[in-house]
Amino acid sequence: MYAEGAMTADGSFADRYGPWALITGASSGIGRAMADEVAGRGIPCVILSNEQEQLERARDELIAAHGIEVEAVCVDLAVADVADRIGAQLGDRELGLLINNASFGRTGPFGSDEMDTYRRMLSVNIDAYVALTHRFLPAMVKRGRGGVVFVSSLNSLVPGIGRSAVYSATKAFETSFACGLWQELLDTSVDVLLVIPGPTRTGFQEEAGTKLASWAMEPAAVAGEAIEQLGQRLVHVAGDVNQVLAGSLQRLALEPRVEIASWVLDEALIKGAL
Ligand SMILES: NC(=O)c1ccc[n+]([C@@H]2O[C@H](COP(=O)([O-])OP(=O)(O)OC[C@H]3O[C@@H](n4cnc5c(N)ncnc54)[C@H](OP(=O)(O)O)[C@@H]3O)[C@@H](O)[C@H]2O)c1
Repeated sequence: MYAEGAMTADGSFADRYGPWALITGASSGIGRAMADEVAGRGIPCVILSNEQEQLERARDELIAAHGIEVEAVCVDLAVADVADRIGAQLGDRELGLLINNASFGRTGPFGSDEMDTYRRMLSVNIDAYVALTHRFLPAMVKRGRGGVVFVSSLNSLVPGIGRSAVYSATKAFETSFACGLWQELLDTSVDVLLVIPGPTRTGFQEEAGTKLASWAMEPAAVAGEAIEQLGQRLVHVAGDVNQVLAGSLQRLALEPRVEIASWVLDEALIKGAL
């Protein structure tokens, strides 16, 4: 369930970010928790992932929990015409909220994965974010209301982490893209929120081949905190520990910042020692 917030008390969250929300990567983890937050605030959701069965399970749970319309759209975000495919599935439904959340990562020295894996990562973590924003943002601006949420990562504040060079570069792109859009949209009524999670207890770790840091958060906590910030500020760093880490890292010159962040990745996520 969602936390009560200023914009939920009088139903204005739905007025501002409805009539429909699209949440990518909503079959599990942070995206699934974001869908709970949004549906709980009365906005019908289109949830998207690449695995039909899990997606349909998430849809059924959301409908049962919130009694709201939820549609499951199974699409591989790596395909070149992703925005057209999703646009066709949405039909004439108007999107007031786009949550760009789906990404995947890998760890290991550059070259330890095939080029196809890196290409796929660039497509899902970068191309799809740009394509969906390009497709759905103009109508929000024209309508004079809406929101775009980017779920990036603590590593994007470094930027650049050894043994995660491609993934961390995709997240740095996302953070940079979100910040640029936020500035461009300041004179409109469309809000941009950049969510910066640190380690979070999701299926991401298995895909990335990492361990869970001792300070890992639950996805519901990340999503609950984040959605409260939509329309309030540009950046939300999830959780106290990640806020301290983000603040400390950003005070360092680039080289020690990269060294320390790479060490934290190694110790916490690869060796599981922190
Ligand atoms: N977990 C962490 O520690 C952590 C830390 C920092 C940032 N983040 C960020 O948080 C966001 C959410 O990650 P998560 O931790 O919630 O991971 P997750 O549990 O693995 O969820 C990822 C979601 O993205 C979907 N997805 C992945 N590839 C896809 C594709 N090609 N097409 C369509 N959907 C795809 C997955 O669905 P299917 O696989 O079923 O398609 C799933 O729904 C990501 O942007 C990640 O970078 C996570």
